[in-house]
Amino acid sequence: MAGKLRLGVLASGGGTNLQTLIDRSRDGSMAAEIVLVLSNNPGAGALKRAAEADIPTACIDHRNFDNREEYDREVVAALKRSRVELVALAGFMRLISGAFLEAFPNRIINIHPALLPAFPGLHVQRKALEYGSRFSGCTVHFVDSGMDTGPIIIQAVVPVLDDDTEETLSARILVQEHLIYPRAVQLIAENRVRIEDRKVRIEPPISTPNAALCNPPLNG
Ligand code: GRF
Repeated sequence: MAGKLRLGVLASGGGTNLQTLIDRSRDGSMAAEIVLVLSNNPGAGALKRAAEADIPTACIDHRNFDNREEYDREVVAALKRSRVELVALAGFMRLISGAFLEAFPNRIINIHPALLPAFPGLHVQRKALEYGSRFSGCTVHFVDSGMDTGPIIIQAVVPVLDDDTEETLSARILVQEHLIYPRAVQLIAENRVRIEDRKVRIEPPISTPNAALCNPPLNG
């Protein structure tokens, strides 16, 4: 179909978020077509998922490059060849260089398994548990030059339970990741997302002013 947003997905791992983006693009709930799946890791499950869905893949192994700039040049060239309009990082375990950001200004998004700005970086589900947070969740944000610091598009909140392990909390968060990532792409595809300073505005606005969660609950 003409007019669909051309999406490139970068993934290093198993690719469950990629799978969700594939599924939502195919069931019509996300007006984007994944035109390229690119990985730095030849063994990435994401590459297998893409191949099974007949989506073009590229593997550019970072170990074959001397520095990040050279590596990113190749990645940008591959994305441009596929005429990618929006880049979605889905478990892509690489920092993005300035030249990559300049090639796709405000056109790179990432999903992070914590409620930013709390817990940027790695192993964040464990960090939320160790800290004793009562809530955690996930964030889709634009990528800027910082580590998980870009403007926030959408977040989902989950409770942290007393008997949670890193695995159970991660699984609870992942369920929400699979809901909010396609939603963020859809909002961008509908051209409803604006960045003002470091804030994202959704147009027309949608809000839930009385939405509140307590953990533990107020009663019980
Ligand atoms: C997800 O938790 C995502 O938030 C993080 O990396 C993980 C990727 O998982 N950035 P998957 O490969 O999509 O299953």
